[in-house]
Amino acid sequence: MIKKGIILAGGNGSRVGPSTKAISKQLIPLADKPIIFYSLSILMLLNIKDILIIVKKEDLSNYKKLLGNGKDFGIKINYAIQDKPRGLPEAFIIGKKFIKNNNVALILGDNFFHGQGLIELLNNKLVNFESGANIFSYNVRNPSAYGVIEQNKKKIKIIEKPKKTNSTKVITGLYFFDKNVSKLSSKLKKSKRGELEIIDLIKIYLKKNKLTITELGRGSAWLDTGTSKDILKAGNYIEIIEERQNQKIACIEEISFRKKWINRKLLNRRINFYGKSEYTSYLTGILKE
Ligand code: DAU
Repeated sequence: MIKKGIILAGGNGSRVGPSTKAISKQLIPLADKPIIFYSLSILMLLNIKDILIIVKKEDLSNYKKLLGNGKDFGIKINYAIQDKPRGLPEAFIIGKKFIKNNNVALILGDNFFHGQGLIELLNNKLVNFESGANIFSYNVRNPSAYGVIEQNKKKIKIIEKPKKTNSTKVITGLYFFDKNVSKLSSKLKKSKRGELEIIDLIKIYLKKNKLTITELGRGSAWLDTGTSKDILKAGNYIEIIEERQNQKIACIEEISFRKKWINRKLLNRRINFYGKSEYTSYLTGILKE
């Protein structure tokens, strides 16, 4: 079982510059809401209510302004600072006190997951998670941009951004780790590019035969928000589905209201907090149901 989640929302976002020069990338809009809503909503849909968001120091006040301590949408949010992007496993070093002796989920604050049956699949893995590590793979056209899983019969090789590979199976930005993750992360050495690498952490679990790789099928979407073009494309995907169904993806207030984590009063408070927008008209519609 996993009850704690970390959202890593630091980094320089330079590939999305100049939009990210003065604001954290995970706060800029993807369709009609900040990018971080999408990763946060995945944790919420998995019933993870104890969340640590790791941000850059200069962004902290903006995150607090938007999300506060999470009470308004029925969860508990703590914040921690990463002053420099020293690599994804640093999340577990920074989050050591938060994790304590628990299993933990990590999601990258710029990742987008969506699809029928996806939450059921993830939830099944999460509820039954005891120890080791569970990562989630997805097939893409451009594997060289990611951590790649090469599989030859039973032998598994994991490589970060290989120039050449004949595998299309890559590692997505959602990871489940057991309580040993902070200790293991603090033993990692920097890679050639000067960062702690998540694949080095994953490889430790692989070596111990404690790694589970779960494939996200072609019916689900794992989209990139790496560049401005990626954000536009992902935004179009979201807009098409939201418009067609008249239902929102990653509306955090809707999720908590439907889960009965907040009452009508709190939902209304959130509507007033945001002010008039299409997003709040949607929330008002939910209040009237
Ligand atoms: O998105 C999945 C991929 O994420 C994996 O396939 C790769 O194995 C993994 O290394 C990572 O690759 P990226 O190239 O996407 O990593 P990037 O450095 O862009 O960081 C991902 C997000 O995490 C980004 O929004 C910034 C944030 N970040 C990154 C680092 C290194 C931090 O907040 N702190 C950091 O120290």
